Amino acid sequence: MQFKKKILCIGAGYVGGITMAVIADKCPEYKITLVDIDYEKIDKWNSDELPIFEPGLDEIVKRRRGKNLFFEKDMQKEIKEADIIFVSVNTPTKNFGLGAGMAADLQFWEKTAREIRRYAESDKIIVEKSTLPVRTASAMERILSANDKDVHFEVISNPEFLAEGSAIKDLEEPDRILIGYKDTSSGRKARDEIIEIYAHWVSKEKIITSNIWSSELSKLVANAFLAQRVSSINSITPLCEKTEAEISEVARAIGMDSRIGNRFLNPSIGFGGSCFKKDILNLVYICRYYGLTEVADYWEGVVKINEYQRERFVKNMIDAMFHTLANKKICLFGFAFKANTSDTRESSAIYVAKRLIEERAKLVITDPKALNNAKKDLRGIDQNVDYIEDPYEASNGCDAIAVMTEWDIYKELDYEKIYKTMNKPAFIFDGRNILDHKKLFDIGFNVYPIGKPALVHF
Ligand code: NAD
Ligand code: UGA
Repeated sequence: MQFKKKILCIGAGYVGGITMAVIADKCPEYKITLVDIDYEKIDKWNSDELPIFEPGLDEIVKRRRGKNLFFEKDMQKEIKEADIIFVSVNTPTKNFGLGAGMAADLQFWEKTAREIRRYAESDKIIVEKSTLPVRTASAMERILSANDKDVHFEVISNPEFLAEGSAIKDLEEPDRILIGYKDTSSGRKARDEIIEIYAHWVSKEKIITSNIWSSELSKLVANAFLAQRVSSINSITPLCEKTEAEISEVARAIGMDSRIGNRFLNPSIGFGGSCFKKDILNLVYICRYYGLTEVADYWEGVVKINEYQRERFVKNMIDAMFHTLANKKICLFGFAFKANTSDTRESSAIYVAKRLIEERAKLVITDPKALNNAKKDLRGIDQNVDYIEDPYEASNGCDAIAVMTEWDIYKELDYEKIYKTMNKPAFIFDGRNILDHKKLFDIGFNVYPIGKPALVHF
């Protein structure tokens, strides 16, 4: 079949895989190919068991795979043939050398730029899909233009705002598509080609453009603002616990102010996920680089509150369970960093699990989708950890349940049945405030919500 255009995505992870599947679905006249250095991942994308769980993804991949959506291993061939190359490789926090623990590790990114330069034989549009420090596009341009071929690369910034668990909907009905470009004739032409892709299903008013640097920075700032909301509401939870105010009532009251809005005000054991912490730390690093100490300190506070909230949760457990967890059996309800995903990257559950292991508790972890990742996260320290998918079986014989992830199934369990099989006194620590606390208390549990007074029988 003749395709109108060939799009390549380098990096077939969460963002690359899901974004390209949706583009393929919406643009049947474009050929969409993904490549990855991880060949096992490519094999999985070509199998019945995709490498990631995301609601609605299987159906789309099944619909488009082999028609206009392809997962391939020959990067050289695919780079040569592509008109537009999206780069969606990982950009984790650097864990060595200058900027360790703060700056973005751009080695995967740079390697991709060098590969494109090496194999390209015709002009191409390069789209930054990964989240990158502001001004990365100019570094990319310098690497790409350091060639002796007569090939022009136009770099465009098109950050991704999808959230895991709702990624398909976020892509199909985005709040906005952001395209950063250079205001030159080739820059404007490239901008229009990227607009043309999204215009297949996104209305023109929602496709916004800006200069490249604003686009790169907007992505970091969007994540910083979202994470800040979580830290803001979490920072009020200890005050509620001290004063008998209730965080859900406070959140409802402030959220009805249309200037504040009611989303992202759910108190929790702290935000997780592969991006919030890394992107804020990256922002902090850039601010420090430019000598903006007060600004850097301000945003670093968002991460510090998150760490405080995680540790506070563990301390509350220790205090409530008579100051010792040694040999007590604790069941973690959920391990994913949020509901509807198998992803556990930076999940607060990892932190809580490690701390409980330090306290010599025995753990039973249950999660409908994330147990394989949980096993990898705790590899080497999980001698006293069991992984059991059925929550009834998992909580059997435990002293406490701690809710880590807001999976719907945990709201619908028969807690009378669970209570009967647990050691007494039985505790529930609801790290997501998703359960009916009064009902649990009436059954006999000692209940510790977040940001609300505990309901205790003794
Ligand atoms: P990921 O780890 O799931 O996927 C990245 C993929 O890139 C991996 O499969 C890896 O093998 C591959 N890769 C690395 N170097 C490569 C190379 N040189 N050539 C080919 N493939 C290579 O990461 P992700 O979650 O998809 O994130 C990718 C980027 O998107 C990051 O910058 C992230 O900040 C950003 N982002 C992520 C999300 C999210 O929800 N996960 C949302 C928006 C933006
Ligand atoms: C987040 C952003 O929402 C996306 O827009 C962005 O594209 C993405 O990061 C990224 O750059 O990677 P994601 O991390 O997938 O998406 O999920 P969120 O829904 O933002 O949740 C992040 C964390 O905050 C989760 O652990 C979640 O449980 C927690 N959270 C969220 C709360 O504790 N309370 C809330 O009210 C909302």
